Amino acid sequence: ATTRYEAEAAPATCAGTIDSNYAGYSGSGFCNGTNAVNAAAQFTANAATAGTATVSVRFANGTTTARPVDVVVNGSAVQSMSFEGTGSWATWTTKTFTVQVNSGSNTIRFSPTGSGGLPNVDYLDL
Ligand code: GCU
Repeated sequence: ATTRYEAEAAPATCAGTIDSNYAGYSGSGFCNGTNAVNAAAQFTANAATAGTATVSVRFANGTTTARPVDVVVNGSAVQSMSFEGTGSWATWTTKTFTVQVNSGSNTIRFSPTGSGGLPNVDYLDL
């Protein structure tokens, strides 16, 4: 089963503001990270079993420039990812990838590596 973790709801953290000024988000808002390197969004997600887990993250990037991040799982950067432009800030897209997780609680952090920071981040499914 997949659980949805909203970026605006604790224990998630957002190095920026929780906004709701663009339609189409899930829950009560989204994380608008500060436009800076390392201004991250972090989720704490539960995995039933250790091993490979499929993760989806929903985002919007109203610019035409992709925003690169490191994906940091339980404190270790495990892969790079890039959040491409989606056409508008109200156009939300889901990106799916796999990571290795522990059984139980895991932190999954999107830490931007460019000065543009993160796209707007809506939720993570695991
Ligand atoms: C605009 C937009 C924000 C977005 C920001 C950005 O200011 O309104 O929602 O987060 O651009 O470039 O990240």
